[in-house]
Amino acid sequence: MRMRRALIVGGSRGIGLGLVEEHLARGWNVVATERTISSELHALATENPDRLSIEKLDIRNQGQQRELADRLADQTFDLLFLNAGILFGRGTCLAEIADDDIADKFLTNAVGPVRTADALFNIVRDSGMIAFMSSFLGSVSKNDDGRAELYRASKAALNSLVLSFHARHHPSQKTVLLLHPGVVRTDMGGADAPLDIATRVKGHADVLEQRWGEQHPLFVDYNNQIIPW
Ligand SMILES: NC(=O)c1ccc[n+]([C@@H]2O[C@H](COP(=O)([O-])OP(=O)(O)OC[C@H]3O[C@@H](n4cnc5c(N)ncnc54)[C@H](OP(=O)(O)O)[C@@H]3O)[C@@H](O)[C@H]2O)c1
Repeated sequence: MRMRRALIVGGSRGIGLGLVEEHLARGWNVVATERTISSELHALATENPDRLSIEKLDIRNQGQQRELADRLADQTFDLLFLNAGILFGRGTCLAEIADDDIADKFLTNAVGPVRTADALFNIVRDSGMIAFMSSFLGSVSKNDDGRAELYRASKAALNSLVLSFHARHHPSQKTVLLLHPGVVRTDMGGADAPLDIATRVKGHADVLEQRWGEQHPLFVDYNNQIIPW
């Protein structure tokens, strides 16, 4: 049987690194990107020299997106997973955040992932999947407490851009998913977060399998439950 191939963007640490480990454990061949050199990711690549390779990408940088697409142009992937993201502005009101900072974070969480998916679109198989890491906080209809308002707005913007991405590529057969990982114990989620990385990435990998082939973009959590837009 053909070995399946995943390209995981933002694999240096946290959930992204967990997704790399989980797909290796499931027998996949993986290409992972890092922005900052990750000793853990490089140790994994040393242990799995035939099944894991590492590429460089700052998701905000359009030149780097194009260079990555050029380097990978002769490869094909079953799964492209855009995981990179950043938490910002928690506990801060709008007036306290500098404009440049807001622009930079929206570029990281919303515009960068979709531009990267556009640049890499053709190397994903027609029967493949493109998954984006969003957040429950990106649900507009479930915003009833307003907390983390800029971060949640950046994930709502990601959700909207992904719907446009899907429409723009119509009639592609590729499955497009937006995922919510839960509150996970990572640098972002914090030490007191209720969920561990290993359990959550297993849940996500199962959700990807269960949703494979869906033809409408979906916003789902780690238990495969639909989240309202
Ligand atoms: N943890 C949670 O509770 C939680 C909840 C909801 C949603 N999420 C989402 O899940 C995803 C992963 O979160 P996490 O908890 O694993 O966070 P994390 O531990 O802080 O890791 C963030 C990852 O994103 C990468 N990244 C950030 N900015 C980047 C950029 N400009 N270019 C390329 N890579 C960049 C980081 O790379 P570097 O090492 O170079 O910084 C790192 O690999 C994010 O999209 C986040 O919004 C997390």
